Amino acid sequence: MSNHDNSPIFPDSYVGENSSEYDNSIWMERNQKKTAIMCLQYLYDEKLDRVGNAGKLNEKKYLIADLGCGTGFSSEILVDEGHRVIGVDILMDMLSKAKSKKKLLEKEKNLELILADINYLPLKHNSIDHIISISAYNFIIHGKSVLGDISKTVNNTAKYLKKILKPNGRVVIEFYPKNNKELDIFISSFNDNGFDGFMVKKDSNQKSGQTFLLLKKR
Ligand SMILES: C[S@@+](CC[C@H](N)C(=O)[O-])C[C@H]1O[C@@H](n2cnc3c(N)ncnc32)[C@H](O)[C@@H]1O
Repeated sequence: MSNHDNSPIFPDSYVGENSSEYDNSIWMERNQKKTAIMCLQYLYDEKLDRVGNAGKLNEKKYLIADLGCGTGFSSEILVDEGHRVIGVDILMDMLSKAKSKKKLLEKEKNLELILADINYLPLKHNSIDHIISISAYNFIIHGKSVLGDISKTVNNTAKYLKKILKPNGRVVIEFYPKNNKELDIFISSFNDNGFDGFMVKKDSNQKSGQTFLLLKKR
């Protein structure tokens, strides 16, 4: 199920038969895996090295939280690349499929899956090296239409992401903000709550559509 502009509807696009359709889609698998590789490349982006508290990120293996891990396409790539991963998703229909994929992984132990809301992460302070989120972060404001509620949610979540990250932790978010106003709200939530960074879009004139936020803990 999707909107007239083909963007998915939360949660309908990810429950029941739609979760199976999502998981069985070769296009979706290719797309999510390709984006996961791009997110890993952005994690080590040289321009990000120079932002804020400048410093290069070593290409070693990390503990990465994959927020909104869905059926596990993105988490699988991160594990295949040698990282330890905590995949978090709010929908059991999606997470159960990730659990089935986990059993097939060579490094099964390197993937932990948690049923939780990105806005209320059950993760300890100072415990995660880096965070990646693919095609999920815009859903954290689902069901909220009052600007004050939206701002409170995005600010609280950005503050908590900062707390769970270790020093020098980085965040790469690929998401689809509806319009410029929504994009600004998300960007400010990170700028105002302890992150430095910048945005990458394929087409800088494009208002909505695929957006990457490359961030590092201040
Ligand atoms: C496009 S899908 C998942 C993409 C995922 N990267 C993959 O490889 O399959 C988006 C996911 O975000 C999850 N999601 C939406 N809102 C969430 C929230 N507040 N907390 C956790 N997960 C959420 C949905 O349940 C859905 O599985």
